[in-house]
Amino acid sequence: MKKEEFLTRYATDRMGTNSLKWDALDVRFGDPDLISMWVADMEFKAPECIVDALRERVEHGIYGYSYVPDSYYEAVMKWEKDHHGYEVQKEWIRISPGIVAALYWSVNLYTEKGDSILIMTPVYYPFHNCVKDSERRLVTCDLNYDKGQFTIDFERFEQSIIDNDVKMYIHCSPANPAGRVWEEEELERLFEICERHDVLIISDEIHQDLVFGEKKHIPSALVAGGKYRDRLITAFASSKTFNLATCLTSTIVIENDEMRQKWDDFMKIYYSVEVNIFGITAVEAALVGGQEWYEAVKEVIYSNYQLVVEEMKDFPEVYITPLEGTYLVFMDLRNLVPVDKMKEFVQEKCRLAVDYGEWFGENYHGFIRLNMGTRPEIVQKAIQNIKACLAEYKK
Ligand SMILES: Cc1ncc(COP(=O)(O)O)c(C=O)c1O
Repeated sequence: MKKEEFLTRYATDRMGTNSLKWDALDVRFGDPDLISMWVADMEFKAPECIVDALRERVEHGIYGYSYVPDSYYEAVMKWEKDHHGYEVQKEWIRISPGIVAALYWSVNLYTEKGDSILIMTPVYYPFHNCVKDSERRLVTCDLNYDKGQFTIDFERFEQSIIDNDVKMYIHCSPANPAGRVWEEEELERLFEICERHDVLIISDEIHQDLVFGEKKHIPSALVAGGKYRDRLITAFASSKTFNLATCLTSTIVIENDEMRQKWDDFMKIYYSVEVNIFGITAVEAALVGGQEWYEAVKEVIYSNYQLVVEEMKDFPEVYITPLEGTYLVFMDLRNLVPVDKMKEFVQEKCRLAVDYGEWFGENYHGFIRLNMGTRPEIVQKAIQNIKACLAEYKK
């Protein structure tokens, strides 16, 4: 399916639909009339296969306790094998309502209060919160940064572990908002360091399917022929890929028997909850029948990103992080906009709602994150506004 057909069939307006992205602008940003480019979900309707499967469920009229069919697990395992070469076994899979919940649970069940937990910044803000809210010590290690490009400082990473006696590392792969799809040798070096210092790895791979160009997502479980599987928990989902966040159905893979038992014991106490049949239905339908939609949405996202890059060529002082993965563009405005004027610039002048750099790490004031999972005209309008307002600053 070509991009144009995709947009005709699936692009939609979400205002007035209880959308967090659009209808909570007043609550979140104090202004209901901004152009919403924040939070990672999209303005695209789900493919027909999902809507039909849900409709059938709804029309059946029975919403009693449900059972997760084998076909659900098979769909998850097949997608993972076909798209990422990871052969997950059914016994390793646990279903979680979301990845953020799984991060909180992992922190609480695999570490003790006061333990140090490492994250590589800039990174998705719940990575920070799940550590701090759980009374663990947050240790941050900034990525190297050069004009939009993020790379790993392995020495700093290892030193952070040593200096703080780190017990757990929460890894984001692909990286939000750094846009990186990590290379195998980067992953190997990171995990080798974790192993050397007996650090547990939680690998959040929610953006695994949204990878562009020549890049390939490498599941953490496959690094070095699977060498680190025993100290690893992997979390992925269809929620970013197919815009299903509110269906609250994600996959947690725990290969190590002891760690899985610990997970199950913890869940018995803190989350004795049945599955949500609408989530199970939607995810299975997506994974079985959503390939064409998925390929087209990637094309739309990448072309939105290219539009940003092309338009912003007039402002070479603004650095745009290459979009290797995710649908979130990180933009460094610090050369033109004073950091203390950033909110005024973004909201009052450009009329945008964005994720601010400092949400992802204290050293990223002056960056903004823009969501490419939207209609091209929204991206176009946002960039026009940014360019017009930057021109003012350049005068
Ligand atoms: C890296 C990362 N992890 C997790 C999430 C959210 O996951 P969930 O909605 O399943 O809690 C996001 C959403 O943007 C994300 O970017």
